[in-house]
Amino acid sequence: METPNNERGNERETNQDDPGYERAIHQEWHHALDHTADLKAAGDPTDPTVVTAPADTTAAAQASPTDLPIAPTEPAVAPAAGTATAVVAGHPKHVADPSDLVLAIRGLRVSFSGNEILHGVDIDAPRGGVVALVGPSGCGKTTLLRSVNRLTELAPTASITGEVQLDGSNIYDRGTDLNLLRRRIGMVFQQPNPFPMTIFDNVAFAMREQAKSRPSRSSLMPAVEDVLQRAGLWGEVKDNLDRNALSLSGGQQQRLCIARTLAAHPEVILMDEPCSALDPRSTARIEELIVQLAGSLTIVIVTHNLAQAKRIGDYAAYLLNGDLIEQGLAEQVFEDPREQSTRDFVSGMFG
Ligand SMILES: Nc1ncnc2c1ncn2[C@@H]1O[C@H](COP(=O)(O)OP(=O)(O)OP(=O)(O)O)[C@@H](O)[C@H]1O
Ligand SMILES: [Mg+2]
Repeated sequence: METPNNERGNERETNQDDPGYERAIHQEWHHALDHTADLKAAGDPTDPTVVTAPADTTAAAQASPTDLPIAPTEPAVAPAAGTATAVVAGHPKHVADPSDLVLAIRGLRVSFSGNEILHGVDIDAPRGGVVALVGPSGCGKTTLLRSVNRLTELAPTASITGEVQLDGSNIYDRGTDLNLLRRRIGMVFQQPNPFPMTIFDNVAFAMREQAKSRPSRSSLMPAVEDVLQRAGLWGEVKDNLDRNALSLSGGQQQRLCIARTLAAHPEVILMDEPCSALDPRSTARIEELIVQLAGSLTIVIVTHNLAQAKRIGDYAAYLLNGDLIEQGLAEQVFEDPREQSTRDFVSGMFG
């Protein structure tokens, strides 16, 4: 299967290191979500100067290192009451049936201008699990995530082959509804990117978009509260839902972005280094949230923080130079890797 690279025609040569590329993706995505008019009314959310996360100024944040120290055997943050638990001893805590794959990436190859970046990658994501995707900088993690909700093809030079099966259907099949796909597979970026509108409107966005006629604020309120509760933000914002989302702290903005994603009822959430711009306290909140959300949905998270991957991952996949080297239970990959290069990576010898 060869995917024509740009649905909206070749616009310009882009490179993902160029901030314009990130902006283009957001522009395309917003366009795809068909809320251009609302965004115009509210300002330009794709302006990176607007979405940069303000640093947390707490003394604790300033005093602590970015990485939370943790013993390799320390268990993940305790799941909330009601979170799915393993039904078979030895299975990851969030996964009832490891053979029930919500996502199956098969032979994924991605090239830019003929330069192959992913060389036929297979990755499994069991339903309800947290899959931690790790590997050295430049190995193709972001490219892989972007290919899972069809953002990679927005680069005019991209060519993609292989399959990404979501519940058994290839998302690259002709006729895939991209709006629906991006609701089913939500994405949270490294930099929090709330829309420049109120907290309430950020969360209500997907709800309004999916409603047949414009719902009243009061009719949306219970669902908005529910989503903000799930995102662990309600207590902090409930008295100020009309505050501009951009005035929140970086950690709050990231939880708001997760809330906005949850509002679309995704089956899978892709997270690309969601904590790398956050202080340790906010990082801990997001990790806790991920562990709580898992079970009811599936999370694929890219992280450079191996301690984080160990804390929250049910499964892990290790990518090196565009090849999947090894995947499996996180405990096995991190504690007893089969491959020497995984061993070198997890022991900090490179990457
Ligand atoms: N649009 C693009 N055009 C050209 N090259 C690209 C494009 N997007 C990604 N690449 C290249 O693909 C390779 C993998 O990039 P990618 O961002 O996926 O790596 P990564 O594993 O996420 O790295 P990091 O850990 O630093 O975020 C890099 O060499 C990058 O320059
Ligand atoms: Mg990346």
